[in-house]
Amino acid sequence: MLPVLDQTDTPLLAAMNHYVTDGVVPFHTPGHKQGKGMHPRLGEIIGRDALALDLALMAELDDLHEAHGCIKDAQDLAAQLYGAEYSFFVVNGTTGGIYAMILTIAGPGDKIIVPRNAHRSIIGGIILSGAIPVFIHPEVDNELGLAMGVTPQTVEEAIRKHPDAKGVLIINPTYYGVATDLKTIVDIIHKANMVALVDEAHGPHLMFGDGLPVQALDAGADMCAQSTHKIIGAMTQCSLLHCRADRISVPRLKAMLQLVQSTSPNYILLASLDVARMQMATEGRSLVNKAIALSNKVRDEINRIPGLYCFGEEKIGNPGVYSLDPTKITVTVKGLGLKGAEVERILRHDYKVQVELSDMYNVLFLITLGDGEEEARIMVDALRDMAVKYGGKNDFTIINDVYSQIEYPEMPEQVLSPRQALYGQTRMVPFTESAGKICAEIITFYPPGIPLLCPGERISGDVIEYCRKLQDAGLHISGPEDYLLQTVKVVE
Ligand SMILES: Cc1ncc(COP(=O)(O)O)c(C=O)c1O
Repeated sequence: MLPVLDQTDTPLLAAMNHYVTDGVVPFHTPGHKQGKGMHPRLGEIIGRDALALDLALMAELDDLHEAHGCIKDAQDLAAQLYGAEYSFFVVNGTTGGIYAMILTIAGPGDKIIVPRNAHRSIIGGIILSGAIPVFIHPEVDNELGLAMGVTPQTVEEAIRKHPDAKGVLIINPTYYGVATDLKTIVDIIHKANMVALVDEAHGPHLMFGDGLPVQALDAGADMCAQSTHKIIGAMTQCSLLHCRADRISVPRLKAMLQLVQSTSPNYILLASLDVARMQMATEGRSLVNKAIALSNKVRDEINRIPGLYCFGEEKIGNPGVYSLDPTKITVTVKGLGLKGAEVERILRHDYKVQVELSDMYNVLFLITLGDGEEEARIMVDALRDMAVKYGGKNDFTIINDVYSQIEYPEMPEQVLSPRQALYGQTRMVPFTESAGKICAEIITFYPPGIPLLCPGERISGDVIEYCRKLQDAGLHISGPEDYLLQTVKVVE
């Protein structure tokens, strides 16, 4: 047990600052030598001193891959704050953290249970490990055209059918702030002696806000990866990977983190993780609660604008919706007859407002510790003005009709692992003639953004027919090399 650490400390930043102010003459990487060799064109934009702290691993600055000095101290502080046994700094995003989590528990041929709407980093981890995915379906909200969480019943059923799986990976909360009943799910996973992994890319702030969904570690998860850069103060690419040790091998996790990360991690990124942790420890509660209050106010105002809808607590209790993070502002714009992508363009070009993402029915805004009343006012004013000035002619009833009229096809048979499919000999064949062949790519339609085919799966006549009907209804296709889906890539 570590003693209680001083969360106001930033040991890594302090060590870096000491090194730079000590007047050392650097005969080491990086070659720009603390910015002295930087071309002025870059310096004029990012500031002449911006690279002064861009340092390299050395005795006094520790080594991310064998941390025993200031990086270990910084990681220990993060572990103590979040309630982990071990925390690791990751500098290639939650993507890197998810790769390492999957590689830690699954090797070639091992099964891992994952949601069908897995982020590409999960599919990437499965490809790298050679594991076999057992896909489970998230719930779908047809009004929003969005995937929600997976239910405990769905997880239980998958575990019953695949008792040999090594673990279950849950995405919680979703990009849109929807959380499932994670505690119950983790208990189910542990009862089956499996490992519970959580893609918590959108949840590094959960423990600091009142009434937010429970964070993965508090729900009992064995490992979770959080995009510290997405929601709180760290720089882009920075994530935290937390774990508790009873069900996983920590040395193996460390080995996997080495495998997926550079031997030359960027120290400015690492320092930003150190400081982001300190900021949350010292001010996190007030900062996150302020963002929640602002979001609630914004949500109310948006819901008074004719044609717009911003979902909130009324969705709690629906399948896959156990709790919500209100700082994710999903504005459903289909009431204006506009697609989300159209609204994204209007907001960017007419109002200089950029959303996080758009999909068929929605645009998503993130409210974080970086926002205040002024930003909120600009956003609501832009939406109000846009809703009066613009209206579209999209007829979304066609989409509702197609989904109510056709039956969802059976989950395809997994014939090869995604990795075997990736490395197999592939060729393009006409999609309508591909029944019985093994798919070598991901094919997804929006809404709701859940893949219909993944690499290594056998294409059935039912799936072809289903895709054709969605295509005829004008749904957006994502994933295949031939985006019109006239042809599909298959394994020879
Ligand atoms: C659900 C989910 N998981 C994982 C990731 C990957 O995170 P990162 O961009 O930090 O690598 C993302 C990124 O958008 C995501 O939305």
